[in-house]
Amino acid sequence: MNDVPVIADLAAMSAWSEAARGQGERIALVPTMGALHAGHLSLLAEGRRRAHRVVLSIFVNPMQFGPQEDLAKYPRDLPGDLTRAASMGCDVAFVPEAASMYGPSFQTAIDVREVSRGLCGECRPGHFVGVATVVCKLFNIVRPHVALFGEKDFQQLAVIRRMGADLNLPVEIVGLPTVREPDGLAMSSRNAYLSPADRQRAGALLAGLSAAKALAEKGERRASVLLDAATTEIARRVDRIDYLEVRASDDLKPLQIIDRPAVMLVAAFVGGTRLIDNLRLG
Ligand code: PAF
Repeated sequence: MNDVPVIADLAAMSAWSEAARGQGERIALVPTMGALHAGHLSLLAEGRRRAHRVVLSIFVNPMQFGPQEDLAKYPRDLPGDLTRAASMGCDVAFVPEAASMYGPSFQTAIDVREVSRGLCGECRPGHFVGVATVVCKLFNIVRPHVALFGEKDFQQLAVIRRMGADLNLPVEIVGLPTVREPDGLAMSSRNAYLSPADRQRAGALLAGLSAAKALAEKGERRASVLLDAATTEIARRVDRIDYLEVRASDDLKPLQIIDRPAVMLVAAFVGGTRLIDNLRLG
């Protein structure tokens, strides 16, 4: 099987999409930063089901990394990604250069104000401005009918949905469930940073979320009680909890009592690696 063809040029990508649209074809876009894992492949597979053409974008977006974050060492594996994408029936990989995405005069930023606040938005200032801005640019360049994102990045998905609705973007945003390793660890490109010992400890995140979910399923409605149960599991095995919160699953408003669909979200450091996960509480 041949690898997926690569387009780096922004105008060439738009022309490719225009040609496909001209033939009445639906286009699915799966935006990624590469280092593809099974979670990304599930997005490509769903894109394949929903559209005639599937575009994978691979762009390690400097605008969403803080100065102390892992931009330089973020895992990169373009040849492997192109082979994996081909195996999912992807049609083209859009792999732009940072210099063509952000020219010297670039000065625009999209701030999805409320949904971006708190959680990862608090721990990673400016992160969601970078995400929203690059996703909007990708939508404008690729012009997909549908774009697919993983629910592992729950707040990111909420930010992108809000942006799509607020800016009337003509793209259907689809979120797909988190894909997990056999032991339950949420798939993430950053899992590659974990040592074998840290990999074991990382299981604490799902263990904590599952303890809270089990209580919620028995009828517990107080967020404080659910958070205590999760904290007991998580805190003893990770190095630091960045946040552990219960939020409404649609607008991410903080909840004290679970009286509407809710999600528990966690970010924690295991060794030097920051991991995130979430579980719907029913
Ligand atoms: O989830 C990611 O990989 C990135 O945040 C995204 C959506 C591709 C934007 O750079």
